Amino acid sequence: MKVLHAALIFGVAVASVDALAQSQTAIAPAEFNAENAAKRPEGYRQWIFVGAPLTPNALNGGEAPFPEFHNVYVEPSAFAHYTETGAWAEGTQIVKELVTVRENDNDEVGATQEVSGRGYQQGEFAGLELTVKDSARFPDMPGGWAYFSFGHHAPPYAEEAAAFPADACNACHEASAETDFVFTQFYPVLRALAAEK
Ligand code: HEC
Repeated sequence: MKVLHAALIFGVAVASVDALAQSQTAIAPAEFNAENAAKRPEGYRQWIFVGAPLTPNALNGGEAPFPEFHNVYVEPSAFAHYTETGAWAEGTQIVKELVTVRENDNDEVGATQEVSGRGYQQGEFAGLELTVKDSARFPDMPGGWAYFSFGHHAPPYAEEAAAFPADACNACHEASAETDFVFTQFYPVLRALAAEK
């Protein structure tokens, strides 16, 4: 019995050392179909949440390109690599899920009065986008980053999405994002990690 117990403990110890080694090297890959369309990632709401920028219609002449909250999540193995290095690894996946501003007697700037005060609260899911850094698969995309949308509407989202041409998405990210096409200037969690490097 004692021997079995020791073997079990040893087995667990070996398994966790393996997991640690993997977390420092392997980046969980995105899935693609034969035409290089991305499959909708599963479980992304359990990824690492890094921020929720908001550009409401009412502050953008009634026509913000994305009038919702932009909830941004980084795939955990890519987040671990960023934590270790301050850089985005090949294979990094980042999603942005759009969430409407809560409706509840919204005033002239689209804000609502809630128990916490006047402001903007999250309402309903309204769209899903993904970016993947994969220079081998997308050699023509600047920085190797490809961008996808699974729909700008309430779920259910599309199962697959083709990459946008570089000038549709990639160009603005290249011109204005702070860290390798990613808008870390809007994500203090990521800025703080990079500052520790
Ligand atoms: C005019 C500039 C611009 C264009 C064009 C643009 N984006 Fe972005 N994108 C941003 C900004 C700014 C952010 C930072 C967070 C936010 O406000 O959503 C962002 C953030 C993102 C993120 C989260 C990761 C990050 O880089 O911060 C994804 C995913 C994303 N955009 C996808 C897309 C897709 C897909 C397209 C094309 C359909 C696109 N973007 C086009 C400006 C742009």
